[in-house]
Amino acid sequence: MRWLVTGAAGMLGTDLVAVLRGRGHDVVGIDRDSVDITDPEACVGLADHFDVVVNCAAFTAVDAAESDEPAAFAVNAVGAANLARAAHRSGARMVQISTDYVFDGTAVAPYAETAPLVPRSAYGRTKAAGEWAVRAECPDHLVVRTAWLYGAHGPCFPSTIVRVLRERGGADVVVDQVGQPTWTVDLADLVERLVRADAPAGTYHGTSSGQTSWYGFARAAAAAAGVDPAAVRETTSEGFVRPAPRPAYSVLGHGALRSVGVDPIGEWAARWRAAAPEVLG
Ligand SMILES: NC(=O)c1ccc[n+]([C@@H]2O[C@H](COP(=O)([O-])OP(=O)(O)OC[C@H]3O[C@@H](n4cnc5c(N)ncnc54)[C@H](OP(=O)(O)O)[C@@H]3O)[C@@H](O)[C@H]2O)c1
Repeated sequence: MRWLVTGAAGMLGTDLVAVLRGRGHDVVGIDRDSVDITDPEACVGLADHFDVVVNCAAFTAVDAAESDEPAAFAVNAVGAANLARAAHRSGARMVQISTDYVFDGTAVAPYAETAPLVPRSAYGRTKAAGEWAVRAECPDHLVVRTAWLYGAHGPCFPSTIVRVLRERGGADVVVDQVGQPTWTVDLADLVERLVRADAPAGTYHGTSSGQTSWYGFARAAAAAAGVDPAAVRETTSEGFVRPAPRPAYSVLGHGALRSVGVDPIGEWAARWRAAAPEVLG
């Protein structure tokens, strides 16, 4: 299969290209240096000769998006639309990576794939617009929402918290936001399996199973790094205000994956143990 991966130099894109090549796929990875996805002219014909386009490119600076929503919209919504149009024109499948930030985080049970989109941040609004743009432009799409991503090829929470713990001897970490830490390698594997299974067009949740808080994840990261988890101190969101509101509850259900016979990613704690040597290494 011939795959085009955008955002190929990013945290997810780097692992996706490697996973796909490892499975014998023919892969072209592109990044902003070669194609700016906000440029509609540059995207015309981009998907010709590909079977699948996976859009890992995004404006991911959640706090910066609050003060420059048009810049985030240009990448997350217009860029996604440009790619989806190109994919549809060439008969390719379009895989759009989306986010838990399309939800408001007030639920008390895992969000279904069909739950209403109620983003509370500029980043979330632009990613929600990207989802709708892809649905409108390319009927043969897979929207795959992920959350709490970590990986070896970008700044991410576990490596940052371990560095802070080593440098300062302790860290305050919020306990009142829960979610599903998800390894970029596992998400890459899931995207490949979804496409190989010829899953019906629609929306799927690509997160680990189970749930924890940032505090719980920080303790697991410390333990994996040989740092005393007791150095992680509990705090709450009130003591850690940032420009963009964070969802308190970012747990996504995996009913759509199960309904098409594709196994969800495993339990977050077991997957973190598998990932830690590579991510912290
Ligand atoms: N990280 C998370 O926790 C998380 C959670 C939920 C969902 N997601 C989603 O997962 C996907 C991958 O995220 P990630 O963490 O791997 O992001 P990332 O490391 O920030 O990578 C994004 C890539 O997109 C590129 N890009 C930005 N604007 C572009 C443009 N106009 N044209 C072409 N390329 C452009 C960036 O290039 P530059 O470096 O040059 O800007 C970067 O290489 C995104 O859709 C994100 O919204 C991430």
